[in-house]
Amino acid sequence: MLQGGKGDRDSFSSKFGVLAALAGSAIGLGNIWRFPYVVGQNGGGAFLLVYILFIAAIGIPVMMSEFVIGRSAQLNPVGAFKKIAPGTKWHLVGMLGVVSVFIIFSFYTVVAGWTLEYVIQSVRWILFPEKFGFASMDNAALTQFFSNHYESFTSGLWRPIIWFFVMMLLTGYIVISGVKNGIEKVAKILMPIFLVILLILVTRSVTLGGGREGLVFLFKPDFTQIKEEPFRIILEALGQAFFSLSIGMGTLITYGSYIKKKENLASTAVSVVAADTFVAILAGIAIFPAVFAFGIDPADGPELVYKTLPVIFQNMAGGLIWAFMFFVLLCFAAVTSTISMLEVIVAYLSEQLNMSRKKATLLSMISVGFLGTLCTVSPDVFAIFNASPDLMLPLGGFFIVTFIGWIFSRDKSSKELSSDGTRNIGYHKLFMFLVKFVAPLAIAFLFALGVYSKVITLFPSIG
Ligand code: PHE
Repeated sequence: MLQGGKGDRDSFSSKFGVLAALAGSAIGLGNIWRFPYVVGQNGGGAFLLVYILFIAAIGIPVMMSEFVIGRSAQLNPVGAFKKIAPGTKWHLVGMLGVVSVFIIFSFYTVVAGWTLEYVIQSVRWILFPEKFGFASMDNAALTQFFSNHYESFTSGLWRPIIWFFVMMLLTGYIVISGVKNGIEKVAKILMPIFLVILLILVTRSVTLGGGREGLVFLFKPDFTQIKEEPFRIILEALGQAFFSLSIGMGTLITYGSYIKKKENLASTAVSVVAADTFVAILAGIAIFPAVFAFGIDPADGPELVYKTLPVIFQNMAGGLIWAFMFFVLLCFAAVTSTISMLEVIVAYLSEQLNMSRKKATLLSMISVGFLGTLCTVSPDVFAIFNASPDLMLPLGGFFIVTFIGWIFSRDKSSKELSSDGTRNIGYHKLFMFLVKFVAPLAIAFLFALGVYSKVITLFPSIG
């Protein structure tokens, strides 16, 4: 097990373990909390279509590139670039990644803390339903109740801070236990259970009367809204794709460095991407029928799932007992993501700055503790941090694919992808075409237009 900067590197022990850890990183609040509300704010089906296009044409190549970099270098993002592109500035891409992870980790752990609030509150709601008067409430009143709860909780001071710190300690504890014993073990058990509960939730939501409109909203592309603000919305779809897949910041360079040489990187990437997208769409199918059935505005923003889901649970036999189970598992889905973020920072500190794993974890937690607290007290900081993936991740992704397409030799990437020539890689030509041309050009183009449109919304006089 990896305990310090030097010595034997830890690795994932089995193929299933690799997939569980990677899917654990990818699947999380990005799928269940962020994806539905971003889709809701940006026009539904048309956004989903653009999103899926980006996942396939850009997401898979970026993910494979990260794996190639990580596994061939066997190091954290900064160390990896230093090793495979010595004497160049490429390690700054790794640095950009570490900074992005820091920012994302801070606000993400805050939202992860919200799930704990809902776990605890579910217990109260289950135990004392009379106190809250649930029996006499219809769906509209229930929606109002949960919306009020969200408001009063997130605008409070102490509870969000406390839950944030609890989540951080939990993450730190798992990361200190190491890759095989911590991350892999937790992910293997919890991710499958989570999927089952999500499927049950989906079944209930689509059978709610009046939910059909929600499915139409999610699946029938209507480009009206995209036409109004194409560049902002398209950049947001790209940012969400990167965020949800955990790419563009070196998380998967780090996890890639723990994948054994014999594993198939391409099929791993495709499976992870497919699982992540499947879960995001399931979350959409769970949320939108209910949103429409209960008369909620799909463009409500970050509170969307927190006020919709409890009402669906209230409509199920067993009621909020489902909410309790769901939020417990959502919390774990979030933890399998936060550990992958913390792991990037810890791998960087321990390998580049020669710190012990324990010290590196503590230091990261103290700094993230500060930034996260800032997010809980200032809605502005929270909003800025939450918007940062849209810009930072495509930027990181651009450099990562460009590196693999233009700098890292074709032979080396083919050696890595084919596990030293033991595997047939008929797709390599297509891969090279994607990382050389399609992905970098598409990202650069969308990024430039997206930034331009963000700037003119902020300073209309320029446009
Ligand atoms: N992909 C994770 C999710 O969807 C979030 C994440 C971002 C994880 C960045 C790691 C790194 O919830």
